[in-house]
Amino acid sequence: MIIPVILSGGSGSRLWPVSRERYPKQFLNLHKDDISLLQEAAKRVTALKYAHAPIVVCNEIHRFLVAEQLHQIGLENARIVLEPCGRNTAPALALAALAAEQIKPGAELLVMPADHVIEDETAFMQAVEAGRQLVTAGNLVTFGITPNTAHTGYGYIKLGKCLQSGFAVDAFAEKPALSQAKAYLASGEYLWNSGIFLLGATAYLDALREFAPDILLVCEKAYAAGTEDMDFLRIDAPLFAECRSESIDYAVMEHTQNAAVVPMDPGWSDIGAWDALHELKADEGEAGNAVHGDVMLHDTRNSLVRSESRLVATVGIENMIVVETGDAVLVADRRRAQDIKEIVNALKATG
Ligand code: GDD
Ligand code: MG
Repeated sequence: MIIPVILSGGSGSRLWPVSRERYPKQFLNLHKDDISLLQEAAKRVTALKYAHAPIVVCNEIHRFLVAEQLHQIGLENARIVLEPCGRNTAPALALAALAAEQIKPGAELLVMPADHVIEDETAFMQAVEAGRQLVTAGNLVTFGITPNTAHTGYGYIKLGKCLQSGFAVDAFAEKPALSQAKAYLASGEYLWNSGIFLLGATAYLDALREFAPDILLVCEKAYAAGTEDMDFLRIDAPLFAECRSESIDYAVMEHTQNAAVVPMDPGWSDIGAWDALHELKADEGEAGNAVHGDVMLHDTRNSLVRSESRLVATVGIENMIVVETGDAVLVADRRRAQDIKEIVNALKATG
């Protein structure tokens, strides 16, 4: 049986000013107009016929948002695990694996980020099906995407020997330097890590025991000291605060010998920043704009223009990001979309 795990702890700071700490991107209708990214992820995994109700791991400040959004799509039986603070994905998945072992010992986990877009659900399900064969052989399975740029925000997977329904992973390099990413892309031997994993809960906990025993120990203690609070499982705050912050990719995937990858092409996109949303939503025509809300464009090209509360008009601009909300307006060069987090950091620093 597969227990889906939805990781919903990111803050989406590069999608400021729409994505905010208290209301980050996974709760927003960024891809479709009537459903949030989290709801898309939850619907995707509940559509798998052999899947148990999902485990959602999120920050405690988002508990009612998560519960309400799941309720809106008719999902009432998710296990919602609350982190008192963010410690990145390795601890978050450790908590989920511990919860899964209580629900069904030996379960397999389909780990889904809450903030990805997948256009072709059928292709995705076929990839998961292929992954199931590899996971029963004890592998930690990732799903790989053919890269088209030397993006430095992704993990790179070197394809190894052919296995029954995928490939062994020869090497896993998380967020390489640009020169390295360019070499990987040129070699044609690498895939991007989609950040979606299929792994046995026990296999993951064993991998942590081997490669990051401190994370496992703290998570076990904080989990055991957790308390039930209404429908939520609240992880112990002082104990979890002791945990090191680390991602699955650095803590486990870069070290394990048991990784396997299933290549997939389901129209996957990690909406990390406004440029990614532009790429996803830009009209096919000559102008190449992605618009949302009450906007008027004149002689505007290759831009993302988004209005939340007022009319936004643009004239004679190109390659720009213009995002208006009730209390902030962002105007940025589309090629500098990654740097928007600098604004968020500066805002945090000034309180
Ligand atoms: N519960 C919880 N707690 N979830 C978290 C936490 C946390 O502390 N930190 C991150 N997440 C969630 C995010 O919300 C997101 O859904 C997912 O885990 C991945 O975290 P990101 O922070 O977005 O990771 P990334 O994009 O830098 O890198 C990962 O994804 C790439 C593909 O999008 C890696 O797996 C890369 O290797 C991969 O290429
Ligand atoms: Mg991400």
